[in-house]
Amino acid sequence: MTTIKLAPSILTADFGALADQIRAADDGGADIIHLDVMDGHFVPPITFGPIVVEMVRKVTKLPLDIHLMIEHPERQFEAFAEAGGDIINFHIEATAHADRLLRTIQAMNKRAGICINPATPLSAIENVLDVTDQVMVMMINPGWGGQKMLPSMLDKIRDLRSMLDVRGLKPDIEVDGGVKSNNAASCARAGANVLVCGSSVYNTDSSPRENLAALRVALASA
Ligand code: DX5
Ligand code: ZN
Repeated sequence: MTTIKLAPSILTADFGALADQIRAADDGGADIIHLDVMDGHFVPPITFGPIVVEMVRKVTKLPLDIHLMIEHPERQFEAFAEAGGDIINFHIEATAHADRLLRTIQAMNKRAGICINPATPLSAIENVLDVTDQVMVMMINPGWGGQKMLPSMLDKIRDLRSMLDVRGLKPDIEVDGGVKSNNAASCARAGANVLVCGSSVYNTDSSPRENLAALRVALASA
């Protein structure tokens, strides 16, 4: 049985108490911390840069999964790797030389991930799958937390899983956007093994620990 990893995204966390919020996810059983970097160009909002990653690095030993939603990731990835990112993910839509960038990230002894937007077909990443440590399938149009998962993306995960199986490749399949207790098991069954969970972990209804526990219970049925 595949172990499913949960990667809380801090996007909807309380940034006034960020260190505590990260500790709460860490103590509550998170496997990875997902950090959403937005530049106001690739996606409309602007979030944060490497100095925040550096701060997060001091608070937790969990792997830091950097999601670069930025234009020209080749100009910026190094700063995020040096700030303590463990997995550096960038969008196929944001660069013309994905293969080169993936290899450059790996040469820094970091895991290299490729992200794919809902409207981009899997054929766009087909030729880089063998140099990819993780494929991040966007289940929403990126930019904001708390959006509803696009159900058709489950078929995309299934297709990606078969594509990888046929080639005998084993990168992680991470899904990002709209993951909740009521669809986490479907994502896992479709073939994902890392689930980003933003507003389903950081919300005002319950604590990160309670929310992570609820997601684990939901996944038990996968
Ligand atoms: C959106 C980000 C996601 C987001 C997920 O552009 O990439 O990581 O924080 O948040 P939820 O889980 O609330 O959809
Ligand atoms: Zn993300």
